[in-house]
Amino acid sequence: METTRRPKVLVGVRLHEDAMARLREVVEVTEVEEAVLQEKAELLQIIGEYDGAIIVLPPFDRDVIARATRLKVISRRGVGCDNVDLRAAAARGIRVTITPALSETVADMAFALILTTARAIPQAHTFVKTGRWRRRSDRNVFMGTDVFGKTLGIIGLGRIGSCVARRGVGFDMETIYYDVQRNPDAEHRLGIAYRPLGHLLSEADIVTLHVPLTEGTRGLLGPEELKRMKPTAILVNTSRGPVVDAKALHRALREKWIAAAGLDVFEDEPVRPDDPLLTCDNVVLTPHMASATRDCRRRCALLAVENTLRVLRGEEPRYAVV
Ligand code: GLV
Repeated sequence: METTRRPKVLVGVRLHEDAMARLREVVEVTEVEEAVLQEKAELLQIIGEYDGAIIVLPPFDRDVIARATRLKVISRRGVGCDNVDLRAAAARGIRVTITPALSETVADMAFALILTTARAIPQAHTFVKTGRWRRRSDRNVFMGTDVFGKTLGIIGLGRIGSCVARRGVGFDMETIYYDVQRNPDAEHRLGIAYRPLGHLLSEADIVTLHVPLTEGTRGLLGPEELKRMKPTAILVNTSRGPVVDAKALHRALREKWIAAAGLDVFEDEPVRPDDPLLTCDNVVLTPHMASATRDCRRRCALLAVENTLRVLRGEEPRYAVV
């Protein structure tokens, strides 16, 4: 006869200690370095032992899910699920949950990129730090562009896009959005206006992306779309790299189809040292860190644990995509 066993949960990401303590009260926890789980062979070997998995990046594709014979829940810390085969999970009755406790934090980051890119703050910081500010008149070297009073174009008016919209309105920006689903209630509540994608691209001074990566959004901005943008425009991406065609973006920046870009996400992560983007001086680049504040990580960790425990208790999780 099988003795009752505590459920086993694989934790493939460093979770806040409060969340780990909560999890350990109830289940048997195995922590594995994220980099190790990124190796599919490793994941395939161990996944069969676990009832739950709390992860960020490892590839939960069809093969991994087929081996996950005990698994009841894939709890993603974060909101993007492009590394999980949702159809395969649903077919096996595995719940997939997310932690949308990061929207305001990511919206802060999108705005930080808008402001730093518009005012070339990282470039100016390096200029001062490396002792290159020699003449007083050099303070005119970094001639930026206003953000307030400009037109902000938001692509994707989900949870994060809506938080960005509030910030845009707060900065006295004319705020417009495109989404596959028009949202008259949000238009009214936030004081923003809908535009078809092409119109938004040609009208906005700043375009910011807030869509998930799906087959429908992969390459959403290609050469044609980037060419529709104003030559003075700034593109900000805190969603997923492949939403923008990387080659076209590099050309757009080099040939000045657009003025600048603030990017937190890339087609290949980590960015390779020979990525041509690194040679552009009209970019501000950060390493996929839009939700990286201690407050946000604690909120998301607690929610990832709660979602896991709910499923393991046979209850409905708070945020399920499957
Ligand atoms: C971050 O990239 C997330 O998916 O939450």
